Amino acid sequence: MKYAKLTVASEFKVGKTDDRIYGSFVEHLGRCVYGGIYEPGHPEADENGFRRDVLGLIKELNVPIVRYPGGNFVSGYNWEDGIGPKELRPRRLELAWGTTETNEFGTDEFMKWCKTAGTSPMMAVNLGTRGPDEARQLVEYCNHKGGTYLSDLRKKNGSAEPYGVKLWCLGNEMDGPWQMGAKTPEEYGRVACEAAKIMKWTDPSIETVLCGSSSWGMKTFGEWETTALDLAWDHVDYVSMHQYHGNNDNYLENFLAKGVETDRFIESVIAALDYVQGKRHSKKRIDISFDEWNVWYHSNGTKFEKWSEAPHLLEDVYNYADVLVVGTMLNSILRHCDRVKIACLAQLVNVIAPIMTDNGGKAWKQTIFWPFMFASKYGRGYVLQGLTDTSKYDTKWYTDVPDVDTAAVLSEDGEELTIFAINRDLNDDIVLETKLCDFEGFVPVSHTVIEHSDPYIKNTRDSQPVAPSEKKELPEIDGRIMKTKLGKMSWNMLRLKKVK
Ligand code: AHR
Repeated sequence: MKYAKLTVASEFKVGKTDDRIYGSFVEHLGRCVYGGIYEPGHPEADENGFRRDVLGLIKELNVPIVRYPGGNFVSGYNWEDGIGPKELRPRRLELAWGTTETNEFGTDEFMKWCKTAGTSPMMAVNLGTRGPDEARQLVEYCNHKGGTYLSDLRKKNGSAEPYGVKLWCLGNEMDGPWQMGAKTPEEYGRVACEAAKIMKWTDPSIETVLCGSSSWGMKTFGEWETTALDLAWDHVDYVSMHQYHGNNDNYLENFLAKGVETDRFIESVIAALDYVQGKRHSKKRIDISFDEWNVWYHSNGTKFEKWSEAPHLLEDVYNYADVLVVGTMLNSILRHCDRVKIACLAQLVNVIAPIMTDNGGKAWKQTIFWPFMFASKYGRGYVLQGLTDTSKYDTKWYTDVPDVDTAAVLSEDGEELTIFAINRDLNDDIVLETKLCDFEGFVPVSHTVIEHSDPYIKNTRDSQPVAPSEKKELPEIDGRIMKTKLGKMSWNMLRLKKVK
């Protein structure tokens, strides 16, 4: 008999969520910028060429930060190419993805777009083909108030006020041989240290993110983090991690278990960061910026014309099973909210994204839009140390995979409790018994589900079969025990409110 029990007590908190865990990412890649957030001439475009239909969907996701301009792209980017009169901007070969970059959209357009979208920029600097000098110049261009060549250039380009960009990534995936200007941890640690140092001299209010490993599977994982962090310790605030899950072998039980790997990855990065802290006898604690995460595999092997402008690249069309994996990744981020302070769903539009568009046409919600939207809306506050006791299963790759994966969040005012619960079981419904230790006066007010019998069903421009619905019957509550049926292979959100 399958079972799942969850015990929550308001006093036992993991920590308070940082809003920035609901960030996203816009890279100059495929149609993320061109044809995604920006498409002058589109019937929905505003006077800046920003697509209003896309902005509307992004606002529903409520993303507080957006990382830009890459990704692999940033490691060959000259930021100066993307400022000033558009007709003078150079067209360039873009080596990360084999396309042509027109530079029609650049830093000033991105800052304006962020303002329109109601989000904040998280900028990345090029530490691949360039270095500390260009990085500190970009900080000066963006954040210095005026009276210098670069800050006055920003004014001339239309922005009298500085942009006040707070968060800066020190390159991207510098451990990967696919990266332009890839480095050893020693080379990278030194460059990142010097870049961060002079970027902070330029604007002491900024925070910097050191590149961690580009995946858990990298041969240098662990050693990369400890070596680079030790070298750059004094000038960095976060270390990044990136993780994408795939289902290339179509092994569903195994795919649904992948959130387990997210837990392990986060915990091993924490161990590496704390090891360096211990070794240095430092009081400073470094936290995690999980600045690329998602499911990514559907578009593998897509063909496109080399050096074309904004081709269809990495355009994963997500299915229902992906909802469950994204849901478990979000739960994992929540359960580690004491150390994961920033997270960016990669990416935002068209490129492995929750939002898809047609050039000149519609914009629509992919399946993974929904778990992200609900977590962003209701998963803010205090994450509770939910003790989950559940039946488990094994796959070829994983052992002891919990059938039910949960995260419980108490709103900041203590008036609402939200439980996210995913039933990974492909065949059986499971009753989740939640013991509410000290939630007197709380009653269930909604049970939202995303469920479908076909794990491979997809949302397309014309039909979106994967969408949330509300259960008519609310969970039963008897004293302190709440019982909820979690349908087989389902995503659930239970909300309880304190009645006055
Ligand atoms: O998000 C797509 C790519 O994945 C990014 O450019 C890179 O950083 C990662 O490998």
